[in-house]
Amino acid sequence: MTFPLIVDGSAIKNHKSWIKENEHIFKEHAAVLLRNFPIHSRELLEEYVKTIAPEQSFLDYTGGTSPRKKLGTSIYSSTEMPFFLKIPMHSEMAYRKRFPKKIFFYCETAPLMGGQTPIADIQKVYLDVPEVIRNKLLNEGIIYYRHLKNYTPTSKVLSLINPMIKMGTWQFVFKTQDPEVVNEYCRQNHYQSEWLKDGSVILTTHLPALNEKGVWFNSFHFFQVHHRIWGRLITPVFKFIRFISRGLDMSATTGNKQRLSSDEISKIVDAYEKNQVQFDWQKGDLLFLDNTRTAHGRNPYLGKRKILVSLAEEGEFTSF
Ligand SMILES: [Fe+2]
Repeated sequence: MTFPLIVDGSAIKNHKSWIKENEHIFKEHAAVLLRNFPIHSRELLEEYVKTIAPEQSFLDYTGGTSPRKKLGTSIYSSTEMPFFLKIPMHSEMAYRKRFPKKIFFYCETAPLMGGQTPIADIQKVYLDVPEVIRNKLLNEGIIYYRHLKNYTPTSKVLSLINPMIKMGTWQFVFKTQDPEVVNEYCRQNHYQSEWLKDGSVILTTHLPALNEKGVWFNSFHFFQVHHRIWGRLITPVFKFIRFISRGLDMSATTGNKQRLSSDEISKIVDAYEKNQVQFDWQKGDLLFLDNTRTAHGRNPYLGKRKILVSLAEEGEFTSF
């Protein structure tokens, strides 16, 4: 099956009607790129995504790992992570009991160079992860840890030098000053929260490695501090942060609290890289992804890059 399916809108007369008449393609294909469709504004973008997914199914991004800005009723900026950072392949919010089943990426400004959103078929990724590694995660599930810091006057000053310090605070992630909002989020999303004396909080959750379609749907490798995932420049910085924060800044173990070896993590990354495909963004492109069948990432880039994102249709893990 073509991956992604590319639909050129140049010869189509009524684009919204065309989408309605062909809505089956968004079920049959895990990834569809609409190119040369007349999506020239954020308002039009909202109209288009709501043609493909029901209006009431759009989700917000509270509690996500990546900093984003809300730009419309259902539109967010894609990650605000620095341009030089490669975002590893991942299934959106697969570290949460509830996750979006559909993702839309829209290219408002194409980067000068790089900045692609690589995608992979996670059924193929699953088959390419060595069985012995797969079984460790399938049998025991995965425990995810996030240690969200307290936003103090000191961290405010340090954030001027490194904005990622602010991004790692619970106040930033949950857009609140009230710990009870975090606790409520935890109750609703299958997290345990442990508040520390310094005002920071450790969130822990135990989830399966596969989704209900039986495909590889998890964030195990994304939560590892490993040079194959974050690069040789950033990894030592992350290792240092993990060292000073009880080793839990953002990490994942098997359900029996075992870590995988560096070699085993490399093999998971190999499986993603082997199945990765990418295309250069063009202004106005709209990419639909079935999040339960695909993973995506982001390449480093040069120039301005504005990719908007919408998340729709909530799914839920049923075990662990
Ligand atoms: Fe993402």
